[in-house]
Amino acid sequence: MSPNAVQRVLLVFAMETEAMPLVKRLGLQRDAADKILQPAPCVTFSGRACDMDVHVVWNGRCGTHGVDNVGTVPAALSTYIAAQAFKPHVIISAGTAGGFKSRGAAIGDVFVSDAVMHHDRRIPLPSFNQYGISYTKTLAVASMAATLGLKTGTVTSGNSLDYTDKDMEIMTQHSAAVKEMEAGAIAWVAQMFQVPLLCVKAITDIVDGGRPSHEEFLENLHAAAASLQSTLPKVLQFMAGKEPSGL
Ligand code: ADE
Repeated sequence: MSPNAVQRVLLVFAMETEAMPLVKRLGLQRDAADKILQPAPCVTFSGRACDMDVHVVWNGRCGTHGVDNVGTVPAALSTYIAAQAFKPHVIISAGTAGGFKSRGAAIGDVFVSDAVMHHDRRIPLPSFNQYGISYTKTLAVASMAATLGLKTGTVTSGNSLDYTDKDMEIMTQHSAAVKEMEAGAIAWVAQMFQVPLLCVKAITDIVDGGRPSHEEFLENLHAAAASLQSTLPKVLQFMAGKEPSGL
């Protein structure tokens, strides 16, 4: 096997509902608490599956509000800590997301990323403008997408489930296909560790479909989590033992 082959992967999830079906399906075990620098709220699971060492980090729950730690800040913290602990060859930002029907998305689809960006960091100053958006190419996976029948598109992150008119203008300008709340932050950390990133996102709601995102999200969360769970092992198996440049 090539010394550059992917043998160790880290999957980053925001929500327990998204993470646990995969953890159970792959038979991953919760790591001892000392794997994670305290008092970070994230929770990790590890095991051997799909011919690889697989690590999962879930952002954990907010100590004050009791809900999953969604959004860019917990995602960056979890990714940093887990990348430090597990030294993955590839990081996967996995979870549910809104999709743009104008870019071919339908509820239940699973997308892989071609790039990630932020749509809610508006800084109209020279160079800070591009820093705010931080449009970044992700791992090229044309062969994987074709083999597994996955749609491909740009994943855009912001810290709100809804969006402003300006957010929509920025998402449209960059032809975003998938909208969620973590990938841009995970990309920042992945770049720091010089580890390639791929996003795998199942669609719960249609961003440009006219219905409020939160209604569709709640209706479709469990079905989308099931699509994700059936796709992720195939993604891992496809990667196992291949060089990141050959996906
Ligand atoms: N997660 C699921 N749907 C989403 C949306 N429309 N925006 C942000 N995050 C999401």
